[in-house]
Amino acid sequence: MRYKIAPLFCRPWTLNGISPRLIESHYENDYGNALSSLNAATAELEALDPATTPAALIHRLKRDEAALLNSTLLHELYFASLGGDGRTLPEPMAQAIARDFGSVKRWRDEFIALAHGLAGGPGWVLLTYVPRDARLINHTTAGHEQSLAGGIPILALDMYEHAYHLEFGANPAAYVAAFMRNIEWDTALQRYQNAVKVEPPPRLIQKQFADIPSITVEEVKGMIESGRPVQIIDTRPRHYSTRAHEIMRGAVWRDPERVDEWIGELSKAEPVVTFCVYGFHIGCETAVTLRKVGFDARYLVGGHYAWKAIKGPLTLLDDTSSSGSGPVMQRIRPEEPLADPQLE
Ligand SMILES: [Fe+2]
Repeated sequence: MRYKIAPLFCRPWTLNGISPRLIESHYENDYGNALSSLNAATAELEALDPATTPAALIHRLKRDEAALLNSTLLHELYFASLGGDGRTLPEPMAQAIARDFGSVKRWRDEFIALAHGLAGGPGWVLLTYVPRDARLINHTTAGHEQSLAGGIPILALDMYEHAYHLEFGANPAAYVAAFMRNIEWDTALQRYQNAVKVEPPPRLIQKQFADIPSITVEEVKGMIESGRPVQIIDTRPRHYSTRAHEIMRGAVWRDPERVDEWIGELSKAEPVVTFCVYGFHIGCETAVTLRKVGFDARYLVGGHYAWKAIKGPLTLLDDTSSSGSGPVMQRIRPEEPLADPQLE
């Protein structure tokens, strides 16, 4: 495709302390050059056969294309970020910023600090909405790259020298102050309101266990740390546990195929958490079995590896008998044959 130039969004003669000359130069030279170079790189790529072109050449052109596309998009956002009085935030925008930064002042202080930190080096300061987490975050980029994956920037400050040197010389702080005085919050709010309509990425859903209550590793870690009673049962399959050397600290291993033999050790007065290797069927099915007979049982989302991924404490599998309040560990009998190596 060929990218088309976007008209200048802000009205340069209305800006306070940023001259039309600076905006014109920035728009014509830097934005214009990024767009024309982007089209040149795109055309060059389209003319190549990726099956026969050296990989190093494809890599270089694609890297250039990504940087130029990001430069184009961010410049358009930069010009659209200017044109207001900088001070008057529409109420929904102020509320969203206060929700995610504590206060508008705290957001502003952090945004300005990021800009000052970038002074002298190429990069952007961005206020970005992340649909995955339904929140706003300030961040910087190195050069035109490193935008947040899946994030939607709603405000952009260009900290390249070409954005200010013509008028502010070696005084980027004055330029940053001028930018803050000219933020156009009404259109920033429009971009934010569009961004929040974007659905977060789909989460893992196990339809067959949709009705079974689950608990996250963070929640279980919090329960353990706060001393709340919880019975944690590691139900990784016997053949898997035979090879495993470590277990979540505070958990006991029990054979998921022999629930009847150990169910009597559990108390119905305290919650039960069951888990398997990745948080799929076995931990869920054990929770189902326990719930049917009246236990407050939930399965651990993500299982053993999610616990490891949050750096939850582990202990040697042999040591779980002394790990606390749980029932005494029943070791796997070594004479038992290994089952099918398939995990779950
Ligand atoms: Fe620029």
